[in-house]
Amino acid sequence: MSAGAARPATGRPVLVRTKAGLAATRAGLHGPVVLVPTMGALHQGHRALLRLARETAGAEGTVVVSVFVNPLQFGAGEDFGSYPRTLEQDLAVCAEEGAAVVFVPSPDEMFPSPPLVRVDPGPVGEVLEGGSRPGFFAGVLTVVLKLFQLTRPDVAVFGQKDAQQLALVRRMTADLDLGVEIAAVPVVRDPDGLAISSRNAYLSPGERVTALALSRALEAGTAAASAGPAAVLGAARAVLDSAAGTEPPMVLDYLELADPVTFTGAGDGYQGQALLLVAAWCGTTRLIDNAPVALDGKS
Ligand code: PAF
Repeated sequence: MSAGAARPATGRPVLVRTKAGLAATRAGLHGPVVLVPTMGALHQGHRALLRLARETAGAEGTVVVSVFVNPLQFGAGEDFGSYPRTLEQDLAVCAEEGAAVVFVPSPDEMFPSPPLVRVDPGPVGEVLEGGSRPGFFAGVLTVVLKLFQLTRPDVAVFGQKDAQQLALVRRMTADLDLGVEIAAVPVVRDPDGLAISSRNAYLSPGERVTALALSRALEAGTAAASAGPAAVLGAARAVLDSAAGTEPPMVLDYLELADPVTFTGAGDGYQGQALLLVAAWCGTTRLIDNAPVALDGKS
């Protein structure tokens, strides 16, 4: 398929493996270009991103998906090597959801030498996920900025599941005047409430049952919203404490009720929308989840 033929969202997408190939393909696109950055292993959550992207692109536009397991955002001892890589399935999902271009660079194509210059995520990148995974957000923002440079999208779509990542991408886009509109899709859940993640594939059946405490904690917390921040955290913590005593146990990393812009704690008297965020280990798998909580300023 030629570059100019990449626009219609039917059939198998054009597979592009090089930056030069992406530039040539991009040059043939004239309607809105909507980018969905992913690390592959596409699941129902990604399908929701792809559907919003398809709708946003409209009849004249093009959905571009990037599939790249970004080494910069994995710390020592994390799952870079074992992260699921399922390109054939991913291409089928992209075709079904109307993506016309899939960019799949190798690590060497993306980073011919280790980048000395990285995006500094600032204070929001130091807490919660950034506190537990040092360097994570610098790695994410650096690759997202690079993908924006290479694809020059009009719109890029991210999931609310990675709430802190979404907030930082928004902030980077605004602070650096990148001229890309950021669209977001709410957390997609399995029928039993577990937030869908590529890492759910690592869970044993028992760990998956334990993992349900994450969404149950968020539900308990949001249900206590009218009683104020301490009640929200108390209700969520009670569920997580009880999951710490199950077999297999859940090991809590953090639970925080945070301002959705600064990601600092929303304490007594906080008024407006907050985010209840949780990260925990089930066996060797680290999961995150979050839910919005509307607070009315009472404590
Ligand atoms: O959310 C992800 O899958 C990744 O962090 C992203 C945005 C594709 C950057 O590697």
